[in-house]
This record gives sequence, structure tokens and C-alpha cells, in this order.
Amino acid sequence: MIADGKILLGKSAKPEYLTLKLANRHGLVTGATGTGKTVTLQVMAEGFSNAGVPVFAADIKGDLSGIAAAGDGKAPFVKRAQEIGVDYTPDRFPVVFWDLFGEQGHPIRATVSEMGPLLLARLFELNDVQEGILNIAVRVADDHSWPMIDLKDLRALLTYCAESEPEIDAKYGNVAKNSIGAIQRQLLMLENQGAQAFFGEPALDIRDFMRTDRDGRGIINILAADKLMARPRLYASFLLWMLSELFEELPEVGDLDKPKLVFFFDEAHLLFNDAPRPLLEAVEQVVRLIRSKGVGVYFVTQNPLDVPQTVLAQLGNRVQHALRAFTPRDQKAVRAAAETFRQNPAFSTEKAITELGVGEALVSTLEGNGTPSMVERTLIAPPSGRVGPLAEPERKEAVRASPLRGKYDAAVDTDSAYEMLAKRKEMAAQPAQEAASSGGLGGLLESILGGGQGSAQGSGKGKGRQRATVTETVVRTAATSVARTVGTQIGRAILRGVLGSMTKGR
Ligand SMILES: Nc1ncnc2c1ncn2[C@@H]1O[C@H](COP(=O)(O)OP(=O)(O)OP(=O)(O)O)[C@@H](O)[C@H]1O
Ligand SMILES: [Mg+2]
Repeated sequence: MIADGKILLGKSAKPEYLTLKLANRHGLVTGATGTGKTVTLQVMAEGFSNAGVPVFAADIKGDLSGIAAAGDGKAPFVKRAQEIGVDYTPDRFPVVFWDLFGEQGHPIRATVSEMGPLLLARLFELNDVQEGILNIAVRVADDHSWPMIDLKDLRALLTYCAESEPEIDAKYGNVAKNSIGAIQRQLLMLENQGAQAFFGEPALDIRDFMRTDRDGRGIINILAADKLMARPRLYASFLLWMLSELFEELPEVGDLDKPKLVFFFDEAHLLFNDAPRPLLEAVEQVVRLIRSKGVGVYFVTQNPLDVPQTVLAQLGNRVQHALRAFTPRDQKAVRAAAETFRQNPAFSTEKAITELGVGEALVSTLEGNGTPSMVERTLIAPPSGRVGPLAEPERKEAVRASPLRGKYDAAVDTDSAYEMLAKRKEMAAQPAQEAASSGGLGGLLESILGGGQGSAQGSGKGKGRQRATVTETVVRTAATSVARTVGTQIGRAILRGVLGSMTKGR
């Protein structure tokens, strides 16, 4: 439901809106289980879609998928429509389904280099020493222009590092063989769990999230995340990677009439739970800077305290569903949640939080020049799409009818570090004179010394952009630290340095 640049969230004494122009100032939806968070997310997503704003959301329990089908007039929602004086209008929304495992939607793949050492280290659960070695390995690959696409590239690279330890120690710093072994074991474990599928080509082009349908409605991208929930690090790494991709790919746009994309992070506590400091800092920076790229980020979690203070402070649009207050710890959380709102003299925020009914929430959104509205006790509007999961045949049909059908579905194995290192070994094993007579000494040398720029960029992979090497990036980063006044450049340097994706260039 939408009225001139606003999304109707629900009704207090007056209608409560989310202002599209301020929707890139991020948001937060919180509340105990079963209090109405997912339905609120659905109401927001539908509003954005109607306004032509594409959405990305992870579907933790599968119950968001129903948004692709028209609402079926379930009693609580028809009743809610009456309570707040709107028509109950069933409608279906354009949805593209995604699935890291490629079962319930298009597969989402990243390349190893896009994921970057920081997120990989988290995914592999590496300690500091191992992470340091991974960083070195990645630099070695870059210096040789070996494209790092899939996990077998990474494995081949680690083997190379172990075999060339003395040279690498001398040039880059100590890479202890037993630590490399530990990384390799982690890698093997992930491969045994099927992680090969997540790395490779065609890697996700994040712009495919930013589509509208023929009627101009924003596509709602839904990531099947039911299985991912059991693998919080995988979930967190991929979602953060997507955010960093958005950040790197999108130009600076300043304030727009409406966001270019809205990104919902459900079960947001998984991103922050025992995340190391540098990662938290990176998330904080990305959230702060991505706003000016026209992306709104909405965290959904049980308790506002799940989100670090520095991130929380940046989430302008708030919907707080009920919290329980049985234990002193609960009570403390309720108090903390209450304190984040601009108080309304008409009632006690703290008390209201514990008294809210299902589908009822405390709402405060940004208004005017970006000040938070006074908190209001609000009945959340009913969604127009179905609430609950799609039936299996319906989902299959939606996947079959996807506008992106065929683009990502089959993996492509291109020549990359694994193949180049294998070739190099093969050449080294050949008797010198044979190689000299067939390809000349120059050819032999070249193949031993590595593929060179030409071959690396030749496999500059499917996304229509050239990749920069880490070295180039480092040089560029150094240059940008001189020109620290320009927002975009700082942003890019931060991401390259902190989230550490190493081979992005424009
Ligand atoms: N706006 C609403 N109007 C009417 N009923 C609602 C509304 N929001 C939620 N409900 C009712 O509450 C139920 C649970 O809502 P929802 O699934 O959104 O809870 P949740 O907070 O996401 O729970 P969980 O933490 O378990 O995921 C809905 O199926 C619906 O019956
Ligand atoms: Mg839910």
C-alpha cells in the first residue's frame, strides 16, 4: 500500500508511514518470536515493490515465499484491515528465488577472490595466524595473476605455497607448513559439506537483484535460507559479501526519491554473534556508507541489543514488536529497547513493549529532514500477498518462469589458478630440451613463472568487467589514502582493506 512517496505501515491514532525518500536511512524490525516480524517485513517489501523498489530478503523459515501468491483472506488479516479502516486487497508480487544450494532457486555463487580473505577466514573459522597465511597466499596468487575462482583454485594455491615455502617466507613472510595444513583441512571439511557449489562462475552479478517487472514493480529477491540457518557462518559470509558487492558496484548517488534497493537481513544476530572486531567495523562502515549509494539496509532480529551499538545508531526507521520481560535480563533488554525511541508523553514506551499484541508494534520512522517521529503504538497493516510458504509446485513454477532462467543455473569451470598451476607443474616435469624445442625457452620460462597478465585477464570472467590485481588495488588504495576527502574512494579503500575482496576493479 502506497500513498505519494510513502508506504503505509499501519495505524496508530493516525496512519503510520515509511517515507521512501528516507528509506535509505536504514531500519530495524525487532520482537520476540511469533509477534509479527516477518509479516511486517512482508508489508514493507510489498510497499517497496509497489513503489518500484527492488528488494532482497533472506527467507529463514520459508514463510516469506507466499508473497509471490495473492493473499488468501486469512481471518486475522481481514480483521486487521477492518480495524485500521483499509480494504483487504489480495495481490501477488514479482519474485525471483535464489538458493545457495541451487535447489529452491537460482544458485548464488561468489568467486574466491570476491569473497576476500577476511570473509573466507571467517567462513573457514581460521585463527589469526592462519588468516595471516591466507592473506599471503592471496597476494602470491595476485602477484602471479592466477585468477582465484573456486575452491580448487584455493586448494592448488595452498599446495603451491606449501611446496614453495622457503621462497615465499623470504618474500612475503612466514607461511608455516603446518598452518597451511590446518587451512587445507578446513577447506576439505567445507568441500565435504558441499561448499564447492558456492564458489565459481557464473558468479552473481549483484545488479540482477535490482530489476523491476513490466509493470514497474520492484522484483522481490528471496534467498532460501532454511538450510543456511544451520550454518550461520556461511549465511553471514554470503550476506556480507552481497552487501560489499553492492557497495563496490554501485555509484554514489546522494539522496534519491526512493532507494535503488532495500536489503533485509533476517536473523541479523547471526551476523554479529562472535564476529571479530575488524569485521564488525567493516559492517559498520559499509552500513554507514552504502546509504549514499541508494541502498537501505533493514535488520530483523529479536532484540535491538543483538545489533552492535554503532550499527544500531544508524537504523532510522524502527518497528518494535512485543518483547517478553520475565527475567531481570529481559527487563533490561526491554528498557534498552525503549530508550532507543523518541518518547511519546502519552504512554510509557517500556511498558507498552511488553503489552503489545501480535501484529502490533511501536513504530517510529524518519520524517522531514530525517528526524525520528515520536513513537506510536501501531496496528501493522495486513499484507496483500499470501502469508506463509508457497506450495512446492507453486515455487517450481515461479522458478521456471524466472526472468533470469538459464543465466546462473549451470556452473562453468573456466581456466583459473588450479588449471594454471597444474600446467605449470606439467611443464616443469618435462625435460628441458623437449620444452625448448617445442615452445622455446621463453615459452617454458613463461609457463614456469606464471601465466602473466594476458591469461589472467583473458579469463576475466563473465561479468563484463576487468579485474584488478591486489597489487593494483594496493597501489590504488595508497593513492586514495592521499585523496581521503572523496567519499567513494575512501569507501572502496575501506572495503578492499577490511572486507578484503581483492580483485575488484572498474
Ligand atoms: N499485521 C498483522 N495482522 C494480523 N495478524 C498478524 C499480523 N502480523 C502477524 N500476525 C499474526 O501472527 C502470526 C505470526 O507472525 P510472524 O510470522 O510475522 O511472527 P514472527 O515475529 O516473524 O515470528 P518468528 O520469530 O517465529 O519468525 C501470523 O501468522 C499472523 O497470524
Ligand atoms: Mg519470522
